[in-house]
Amino acid sequence: MSTRSFFVGGNWKMNGNKETLSGMMVELNTAELHQHTEVVCAAPSIYLDFVRSGLDPRIGVAAQNCYKVSKGAFTGEISPDMIKDCGADWVVLGHSERRHVFGESDDLIGQKVAHALESGLRVIACIGEKLEEREAGTTEEVVYAQTQVIAENVNDWGKVVLAYEPVWAIGTGQTATPEQAQEVHEKLRAWLRANASDDVADSVRIIYGGSVTAANCRELASQGDVDGFLVGGASLKPEFVDIINARA
Ligand code: PGA
Repeated sequence: MSTRSFFVGGNWKMNGNKETLSGMMVELNTAELHQHTEVVCAAPSIYLDFVRSGLDPRIGVAAQNCYKVSKGAFTGEISPDMIKDCGADWVVLGHSERRHVFGESDDLIGQKVAHALESGLRVIACIGEKLEEREAGTTEEVVYAQTQVIAENVNDWGKVVLAYEPVWAIGTGQTATPEQAQEVHEKLRAWLRANASDDVADSVRIIYGGSVTAANCRELASQGDVDGFLVGGASLKPEFVDIINARA
């Protein structure tokens, strides 16, 4: 078993309101969570302050996106400085919905990663292939290219968690098998060994996302290179606690 601490992120996406999020926060604050598992909830930006003040301090808070500069005439955007001002320490960048619904390019994601890290945020950097890319046998090529752009913009891997989220598994109920997840995670770690350093490869948490539930989390968590999860749908349900505690 690796020395990397288990990491579970909840990606609440554009869901919830003050009432329902309060309920989820009570659930988390009063649950028994494995002491050595790091937990971070990614809240809608308008609720960052609300969620930070309602969640127990042992649980981290993330924004789901940010822009690549600290301020200015960018209507509708939020900056890392604003996220930090709300007391949140993390940001999710490169999520597949940002890439494919909002058309964010690798370049833009790279610039966001660089600026978020410079500003002192920690980053959950997401990568993952689409179904047609998997079927065409280009999964490795795609995730390596996405990781490359992220890597070019990272100066401290200690502040980054890499989330492998196959697009075909997100919100579809079609989870990658533990073997499929392990295979890609292992390759990503080898990529980090070849392109960053042994130390980075050994220490960076590579987490899996895509239809993780209480029913499938334990088997996924037992894979040697799966260091945690990024959970969407199930992170707003009581079963999120079971997922956090997936690694015994
Ligand atoms: P899902 O979402 O768990 O609902 O598939 C995962 C994610 O988008 O991070």
